[in-house]
Amino acid sequence: MSNPQTIHPIWLRLTHWVNVIAVVILVMSGWRIYNASPIFSFQIPAGITLGGWLAGALLWHFAAMWILFINGIVYLLLNIFSGRIAYKFFPIRPTDVFHDFLAALRGKLAHADLRQYNALQKLAYLFVVLDLVVLVLSGLVIWKSVQFPLLRELMGGYDSARIVHFVCMALLVAFTVVHLVMVALVPRTLIAMLRGH
Ligand code: HEM
Repeated sequence: MSNPQTIHPIWLRLTHWVNVIAVVILVMSGWRIYNASPIFSFQIPAGITLGGWLAGALLWHFAAMWILFINGIVYLLLNIFSGRIAYKFFPIRPTDVFHDFLAALRGKLAHADLRQYNALQKLAYLFVVLDLVVLVLSGLVIWKSVQFPLLRELMGGYDSARIVHFVCMALLVAFTVVHLVMVALVPRTLIAMLRGH
């Protein structure tokens, strides 16, 4: 970026916040869709779901899905072609991950320079991006099962694609909870993600 003070370029901040809105809508409407035909022996409390009924929830889910999909492509393309992905997320050395994990357990994980992610952040962010890719792909199988036979078979069939979709959602929610705790512990990062510097 031209401004040396910039920690997060404008496109990164925009795609991050658009992604947050899309993810919240997708998860909450997804829970409503799940309740219409649960795979496990529990239901999600209706009060934290979105859409009111199955058809309403599906409308929210598809609308937010397109936002997430297009936003995700923009994020990935800009990250790859600007070279940002290489210097922000790589290399991830297993020894650094181990070291940062121990430091986190002792409450001593350093994040002094907001321009650089520590090894746990690199791993967590790459993980959630991959998780979102698998969520979209398994969603495609559930939505257009007949049109995506190869993808369907890779997921182990229609029924297991639903389980893959659910498990990825649960991992996404788990990431988000940990992510929010980390942001609360280092609030300066939030200012940087809002203002860029
Ligand atoms: C209200 C909810 C959220 C808040 C307040 C928030 C805040 C932040 C902040 C402050 C950072 C920068 C961290 C740093 O500089 O150390 C960040 C980065 C990131 N967040 Fe979030 N986040 C939220 C939700 C989410 C969700 C739901 C996802 C994914 C599904 C997500 C994915 C990411 C990723 C992938 C990065 C790294 C982006 C990059 O550098 O390419 N966040 N977030």
